[in-house]
Amino acid sequence: MTISIPGEQREKLLVNITPQLRRRLKVRSAECGMNVQDAAEHAVSRWYETPVSTTVETSGAKSWGVMLPAGGPDRFAAECSTRNLTKVQGFAQAVEEWLEAHPSPSSPLVAQPPQRILVANQKGGVGKTFVASGLAQALAELGYRVLLIDYDPQGHLTTRLGLDGIDDGEDSLLTHMLGKSKRHIRELLVALDEERFGQRLHVLPACDDAFLLEAELAVMRHGRDTCLERALETIEQDYDVVILDGPPSLGMGMDVALNFVRRRDGERAGRSGVLIPVWADQSSHKAYRMLNRQIENAVELSRVTIDQLGLVINAYDARRGATVTKNHDLWMTHTSPRVLAVLKDLKEGRESSDYAIPLLDYAPNSDLAENMRDLALELCS
Ligand SMILES: Nc1ncnc2c1ncn2[C@@H]1O[C@H](COP(=O)(O)OP(=O)(O)O)[C@@H](O)[C@H]1O
Ligand SMILES: [Mg+2]
Repeated sequence: MTISIPGEQREKLLVNITPQLRRRLKVRSAECGMNVQDAAEHAVSRWYETPVSTTVETSGAKSWGVMLPAGGPDRFAAECSTRNLTKVQGFAQAVEEWLEAHPSPSSPLVAQPPQRILVANQKGGVGKTFVASGLAQALAELGYRVLLIDYDPQGHLTTRLGLDGIDDGEDSLLTHMLGKSKRHIRELLVALDEERFGQRLHVLPACDDAFLLEAELAVMRHGRDTCLERALETIEQDYDVVILDGPPSLGMGMDVALNFVRRRDGERAGRSGVLIPVWADQSSHKAYRMLNRQIENAVELSRVTIDQLGLVINAYDARRGATVTKNHDLWMTHTSPRVLAVLKDLKEGRESSDYAIPLLDYAPNSDLAENMRDLALELCS
């Protein structure tokens, strides 16, 4: 409900908010030297600029009046209906985002965990392995310490980098996830030799036992969500960035990977999360909707925040006709997540894979290598 205040250029938006959230806004605005009404107005105006947010718990919300500039309540109601949200949810998201953007000056600085990026899309062949590998190479070249994990049972990443897979029966990522390993997980890692990576790029290769991942996860009674985190906890601090080459499925392994890249306590928003390669074709839009649904479910059921870091349009070739350009243009209208890079379909991509040589070493001056460097800067600087 909206009440106009006569003689003033402002209007009151009546909206429900939980007492807890209202209290946090009140305290934080005071800490920031602001009036709570100004903070609420600021939150709403910021929210217009940040389209997709995670759902906020709103049960027990009670009515509150917020003064907005004339026309503000109508605009807010219209935006909520465009986003298919109730006003109470829209407002709760606005306030949560404002709180996140205005940390308490009294809260201690939290050391950031290693940045974690899951390159994911259940659609096969869209370039997950290509992007995960290229990004990891570019980051290592830039000086970051990178752990690149072959999390796809097919083990394409391992073979494309010219590495041997781990023999079945040996310790593997899976045995570590199950807590059944004999040796330290560090012993599984292989450093890429190429000079440009300065011994900073380490790969955790695939093992044939990865095909058992789904079955093992299905019967795991405790700690399924965090089993990847536990497997990596003794080594992740050795790295600035951990990149997972995601599986071509939306199974439980994917849920575990999503949980691994969730935003951890005190971690900055948009640092860790999911990077999504897509093609400029029609079926990629449907595939994205399914992936998005899985992410939303994980967020809702596990009460976590998972950031979608961006889309990468891969293997783009405008000469393939109007449908391709139309689908490219459609992706470009996405705002959350937005398209971070467009990689063309170029022979260096195929050749580096076929010859099992890292792209940045095989074709360091190619457009694709430059794209990977730009993407690395975009995501990690
Ligand atoms: N931009 C590109 N240009 C040329 N070849 C590419 C490009 N991206 C991927 N490829 C090749 O396409 C194939 C499928 O890509 P891949 O990364 O394995 O997809 P996914 O991991 O999603 O299944 C691989 O042989 C890869 O080298
Ligand atoms: Mg792959």
